[in-house]
Amino acid sequence: MQDELLESHAAEAWEALAQVYAASRQVSADQLIEWPAQLKMCGAFQGKRVLDVGCGTGDKARFFAEHGAAEVVGVDPSQGFSQNWKGHPDCSNLCFALGSFENLATLPAVASRNFDLIVCFQALMYAASLAEAVQMLRSLLAPGGELVISVPHPFRFAILRNEIEGWGHGRAYQQTAPYRYPSPWKEDVLLEHAMPRISDYINAIAATGLRIEAVDEPAVTEQFRLIAPEKAVWMDRYVGILILRAHLDE
Ligand SMILES: C[S@@+](CC[C@H](N)C(=O)[O-])C[C@H]1O[C@@H](n2cnc3c(N)ncnc32)[C@H](O)[C@@H]1O
Repeated sequence: MQDELLESHAAEAWEALAQVYAASRQVSADQLIEWPAQLKMCGAFQGKRVLDVGCGTGDKARFFAEHGAAEVVGVDPSQGFSQNWKGHPDCSNLCFALGSFENLATLPAVASRNFDLIVCFQALMYAASLAEAVQMLRSLLAPGGELVISVPHPFRFAILRNEIEGWGHGRAYQQTAPYRYPSPWKEDVLLEHAMPRISDYINAIAATGLRIEAVDEPAVTEQFRLIAPEKAVWMDRYVGILILRAHLDE
């Protein structure tokens, strides 16, 4: 019941955020720091079958499709973001589906197949169950496949809850229950999700038998400080993101 409430809260919040989020992409930490780091972690994706879960605007899925992936499926539960998918040029190796971690395996574009590269950027914390979502992603990987997961750095929420609730950073970091906070893109829209620690993400991946190959915590670049000084201040305060790459041994 609590899981369903969380799921419907996240869905509503993202309907309200979809267009403002899409419009903020041009000069963003995502475009200038996160996406280059996520892409690097994906390695060579040319010729691969790619699944992007929680794809949002679909721009990253489209990038994979336009730069040599064999085929790409983007999945997101937001009707608001699906408006952006319609704007994409016809790309025969790219398709999108409305769906979520919770119903992934039932989607015709995903069911009964597997993928060489599964990416999940800044979305896994919305899963009703972290363990079940990672297990589901694992089950869709082809032997030898890679899973690249990018999440807000868990320190970020410890810092935020220290500021909002006054808890010590250590205490705040250890609170993994769902927490509701103002979205950075539109403060009057509240986002809510579980607060996994670094160990929770690592253990959820390790429990599936996947082997963690690399971890990254991309830092603010000098170029970013010049182009987006206010966003650099935000990153300096809240750390940024955590990226993990895991491999399914053949
Ligand atoms: C911060 S956006 C990230 C979008 C995109 N991956 C990117 O990197 O720009 C988070 C996305 O997670 C999606 N989301 C929320 N709940 C989800 C769920 N239960 N399953 C899959 N995606 C979900 C939202 O609709 C939203 O598009």
